Amino acid sequence: MRICILRAAPGKGDDPPYSDIPLFTDSHTFEQRFIKKDTIKQDLNSAAAESFDLYFNFLHWNWLANSFSTSFQKSTDNESAVAAAKYIEYLALPVIGLPSRIVEQYYLDDQGKFVLSNVEFPECNEPMVGGEYSCTVVELDNTPIPLSPVFTDTGLPLNADSNINLFNAIQRLAENTFYANDFHGTFWCTLLFRVTARSEPILTGINLMPKAIFPFTAGGKNLAAEARAVRESYPGGYRSLMHSLIASLFLKRNRNFEASRKVGHEYDGVAPKYDAVTAGIYHDGVKNIVGKYKFDGLVLDVACGTGLVARYHGNPRDRSRYVGIDVSLQMRTECTRNGLYSNVLVGPMQRILITYKDPVDHIICLGAFHYLESNELSLVLSRMFQLAELSVTFTIDEIPDSYRESQSKRGREYMVGFNHLDEVERYGTPVGWKLVDRWRYLGWTSPTTGDEVYSNVFRFEVV
Ligand SMILES: C[S@@+](CC[C@H](N)C(=O)[O-])C[C@H]1O[C@@H](n2cnc3c(N)ncnc32)[C@H](O)[C@@H]1O
Repeated sequence: MRICILRAAPGKGDDPPYSDIPLFTDSHTFEQRFIKKDTIKQDLNSAAAESFDLYFNFLHWNWLANSFSTSFQKSTDNESAVAAAKYIEYLALPVIGLPSRIVEQYYLDDQGKFVLSNVEFPECNEPMVGGEYSCTVVELDNTPIPLSPVFTDTGLPLNADSNINLFNAIQRLAENTFYANDFHGTFWCTLLFRVTARSEPILTGINLMPKAIFPFTAGGKNLAAEARAVRESYPGGYRSLMHSLIASLFLKRNRNFEASRKVGHEYDGVAPKYDAVTAGIYHDGVKNIVGKYKFDGLVLDVACGTGLVARYHGNPRDRSRYVGIDVSLQMRTECTRNGLYSNVLVGPMQRILITYKDPVDHIICLGAFHYLESNELSLVLSRMFQLAELSVTFTIDEIPDSYRESQSKRGREYMVGFNHLDEVERYGTPVGWKLVDRWRYLGWTSPTTGDEVYSNVFRFEVV
């Protein structure tokens, strides 16, 4: 993707901080365009005419406050940031940036503290114990996902094992604050809390889309609380976060939904004969994978199809329970017929995994990641590693070019998908996880083109 970073044009005492954003992914190309306060619309028109795939609007970093100064400087006003956000909305640009309805309320008060005029901080007469906690919330699709709370001063994460109640209470309050104040469209924000002697968190501050979510330099030694929270608790780190935010924006705009819908319709037609069509090599592959690893407990089978995973898994039923997700309604009908899945949710995994909340022990996804585009893959992997408590297992198909060409000639590009092997390797192993096994095998032969497709199994387990 060609991405445009909108930055305030340098001015007297108004020098924009250098943006490190492009350093965190090389999957996209970044260019900067400068916007001047007195020619906002003209400058934005020019940037829009270049038809970038995506725009990052970070103008508020410069125009609301110089967040790099040691003591916050009060900005002259937030009118310029509001005007820019409004005009970007008028132009209907695909943008990651604060919505104008929020910038309108957002300013620095006399003490240099960010405030939203429509959000009141609760009065609390009880004495507070200890320092300040910060909890960064990432908005994926329309769902706020709180990261691990960290101590604001040191950036050290709050230990979930020894402080589980406080950890959960801060995350819950952060999520509730996001919903209650309608921070939707904010992409990420950091909420600050103090804690009473009764371990009750109290909201004390708000920072919307802080720059500090990415380290100030790519090496990032001096991490701000936000950057630390991402590194510790957003699986895949900054690179995946960036990709997830991009995927999330396009999910909100329903841009990739059409592709998933077509794939779902295609599988609706295939569902009744799927088991017969895939008998042989494909079934052997599933059997080998699910027979090799432990799946005791609750298994979330993503893109479950007709439910081969549960059928071929040797465990007695009382040791493994299954829930499925699939984009095809007819696949759900076939899957639930065998009685091994207590529920199958119908919809694209890239949406359902965001809203999925119940604890699961294992997550598995066989033969389906190639239908995701690469930003969505990052998002899906990160959600899987956030949700799974014991293991994550998936296959990556090496889609050959010859298959792509034959399917494209038939007008069926949407069924081809992508070879994500490189992307998965670059995603790496998230903090707290271990890649325990990886192997390659002949996965399937296309019934329509005769192409042979090799698959790669990845098995990760919690350390
Ligand atoms: C090749 S089948 C694999 C089914 C099953 N995992 C297996 O190994 O037998 C691919 C499945 O992925 C599902 N699928 C494709 N894209 C999806 C998406 N974005 N979200 C959820 N399911 C999807 C299809 O409906 C289909 O059931």
